[in-house]
Amino acid sequence: MRKAVIAGNWKMNKTVSEAVELICELKKLVFDVTDTEIVVAPPFLAIYRVAQEAKGSNIRISAQDIFWEEKGAYTGAVSPMMLSDVGCKYTIVGHSERRQYFGETDETVNRKIRAALGQGLAPIFCVGEVIEQRESGETFSVIETQVRKGLSGLSPPEMKDLIVAYEPVWAIGTGKTATGEQAEEVHAFIRGLLKEVSQGTADNTRILYGGSVNPDNVDGLMAKPNIDGALVGGASLKAEDFARIVKYKR
Ligand code: PGA
Repeated sequence: MRKAVIAGNWKMNKTVSEAVELICELKKLVFDVTDTEIVVAPPFLAIYRVAQEAKGSNIRISAQDIFWEEKGAYTGAVSPMMLSDVGCKYTIVGHSERRQYFGETDETVNRKIRAALGQGLAPIFCVGEVIEQRESGETFSVIETQVRKGLSGLSPPEMKDLIVAYEPVWAIGTGKTATGEQAEEVHAFIRGLLKEVSQGTADNTRILYGGSVNPDNVDGLMAKPNIDGALVGGASLKAEDFARIVKYKR
């Protein structure tokens, strides 16, 4: 059985004090949840304080990005070691916004995934097609390239902590969710690919759906056999909405 993961990606939102307020509210709303892994990804500057507030609770902390080197002359970058030092257990890698605005490529994503795993951080590895690719029937080939290149060189045991997030770019922040069927089809395809590259561990790899997940559509998405959780942007900024997503109906 794969334990569900509901992860909130706060993106570039919340000052430190606002982030502390949100985590405190959230803690109260989800303290009784034991059957779902709850993760939040605050902006870098708020991670330390949010992790302190979350200590001893059932909420785990993720970074939104990572750099692959341990330390040195890399202006503006944050290393895997720094992230685990402040309490991160996960990091998002290869989010489409990083690919679109910050020049991430499948190669840099691969380096980041390896660096995260090397530091004991579970990568939440994002893949997804843009609308033109979906409309021209390229979804599966785009996903296949992203998955194969992103995981290139990793051994099956190294992939044990990997989490994959399928986020169709056209569904992110647009209010246009993929239907359960559209998402399930891609999730099953990703699981098949993982079976090829990671052998034994693919059945245990959690594959999350992301793209306009909200309290009204989460139950239907989570009912699909290959959807093991959600990566939530906008709706994770409101404690009540995120708590309702965490407590999706089974
Ligand atoms: P959204 O973002 O829920 O606001 O669509 C999802 C994501 O980008 O992870």
